[in-house]
Amino acid sequence: MISGKKILLTGGAGFIGSNIAHALIYQNQITVVDNLVNGNQKNLSGLSGNNNFKFEEKDLLGENSLESIEGIDLVMDFAAHAGIRDIGSDPKKYFMENISITANVLEFMRKKDIRDMIFASTSSVYGETEKQPIPEDWPSIPISSYGSSKVAAEALIHSYSHYYGINARIMRFANVLGKNSNKGASYEFVRDLKKDPTMLTTFGSRYQTKSYIHVSDCISAMSNLFENSKKTDVFNIGTEDVLSLESLVSIIIEEMGLKDVKVTFGGDKLGRGWKGDVKSFILDISKIKALGWKYKYNSEEAMRLAVRELLEQNRFGV
Ligand SMILES: NC(=O)c1ccc[n+]([C@@H]2O[C@H](COP(=O)([O-])OP(=O)(O)OC[C@H]3O[C@@H](n4cnc5c(N)ncnc54)[C@H](O)[C@@H]3O)[C@@H](O)[C@H]2O)c1
Repeated sequence: MISGKKILLTGGAGFIGSNIAHALIYQNQITVVDNLVNGNQKNLSGLSGNNNFKFEEKDLLGENSLESIEGIDLVMDFAAHAGIRDIGSDPKKYFMENISITANVLEFMRKKDIRDMIFASTSSVYGETEKQPIPEDWPSIPISSYGSSKVAAEALIHSYSHYYGINARIMRFANVLGKNSNKGASYEFVRDLKKDPTMLTTFGSRYQTKSYIHVSDCISAMSNLFENSKKTDVFNIGTEDVLSLESLVSIIIEEMGLKDVKVTFGGDKLGRGWKGDVKSFILDISKIKALGWKYKYNSEEAMRLAVRELLEQNRFGV
């Protein structure tokens, strides 16, 4: 468990960040910095009255935007443009912004002599690999500028670690599911089926198989790494099973109690959902398992739980 820390959490109003804030607030002091480009203050409701919590609306693209923040001893860098589908419209902008955010965060750490970091990376760094499950030492050949931006950010973290004694836990997440999410298959399919329970058009091919993890398991992995990984290192964070898009859709339909839904699958000629989409993957998680971490929910259980959470939250604007 992470406790007694003064944490800067970038992107903390977003999906994963806000779940971290809620999970860690009772044992730590947390300052969230977010420009709300995709985050939402609603995700942090219930925290604003807490003396251990501070929210600062700031754009991390500003070189000195973090200057006034003092007393931090752990930085969790979760701010980024996190989608792949949108990135095709302006690959350079998203790449530059993602890498600039992390560069500015690292400069803040250097100037304030902060040594502990947790970084949100992604399975997208690998691209389409022959090897499955993919181990951490497999070459990174990303097929989207999102994946490229995370490879570049990881590289910068390694060099700052070497020069300035930073200990970074770089977490390459599979697809993360849970409440407060506002994009991705689980959220978008549930939203679309709430709107029209008779039909669903997917943006992926039915045969794609991907690995999913519940956000609560990402947080337990983070706590494990904080305690057990004492030098900068990279870890895959996922589950050991996959869901085909077809089974994912069936799970959502079942959890929503629907019947006779007409489903149309998409996907390009190569079976990808869209350009830049890694059509099928599973991560080799033996490295973090060797540190004693176990996930609680496999991909199917994580999907079922997330659908129930999203339905209960009911933030679909329909
Ligand atoms: N959700 C997933 O399945 C997944 C998988 C792998 C990795 N990740 C990584 O985890 C992190 C969090 O992802 P998420 O799904 O919670 O996304 P999200 O979009 O919900 O959260 C990202 C947050 O960063 C903020 N942000 C973006 N640019 C900013 C800027 N210039 N200044 C300040 N704040 C800024 C956004 O407003 C948002 O609140 C990201 O780095 C993402 O790449 C996510």
